[in-house]
Amino acid sequence: MERVAGNEAAASLRLVTVVFEWRGAVDDAEIEALHAEAFGHEPTAFDWRSQLERHSLGWVCARDDDGLVGFVNVPWDGARHAFLVDTIVAARARHRGVGTRLVALAVEGARAAGCAWLHVDFEPELLPFYLEAAGFRPTPAGLIRL
Ligand SMILES: CC(C)(COP(=O)(O)OP(=O)(O)OC[C@H]1O[C@@H](n2cnc3c(N)ncnc32)[C@H](O)[C@@H]1OP(=O)(O)O)[C@@H](O)C(=O)NCCC(=O)NCCS
Repeated sequence: MERVAGNEAAASLRLVTVVFEWRGAVDDAEIEALHAEAFGHEPTAFDWRSQLERHSLGWVCARDDDGLVGFVNVPWDGARHAFLVDTIVAARARHRGVGTRLVALAVEGARAAGCAWLHVDFEPELLPFYLEAAGFRPTPAGLIRL
């Protein structure tokens, strides 16, 4: 677990501490609320915990005093390849480096587990986040919508 202090909006001058944790305790409703806000849908009863426990190498949670503000899931193939999905930061906590730190800790977790590659795909508008801030390099890749 690690703590990072950053300045909240200058207007409030509140010092906000964000705590990051690999495989941190989290419940379904917390993740679903973040996901719903980020992707513009109504919250559902999706069973995130089962998905994480059954299919993920790990995940990273970011929390401040008011709750979960960031999450990223790291499923894998059980050997050398891990994947980044559902990188999410709450709207109230964006542009303070939380997303970049979530990815950095996912990289550390995957490397520590012996993975050689961490994959991600994303919409073109997120190029500055993944390629410039988070350290991914571009590569030819393919995707089929099922
Ligand atoms: C993408 C996301 C996780 C970034 O989280 P964040 O905590 O704001 O990211 P950071 O503060 O670490 O951003 C670092 C830099 O990445 C770039 N960046 C961040 N968010 C970006 C976005 N939405 N689009 C383009 N570039 C972005 C910026 O250059 C930013 O620097 P700046 O704050 O000085 O402008 C967040 O915007 C989010 O949750 N979006 C909705 C969900 C989503 O689309 N997730 C990705 C699924 S593939």
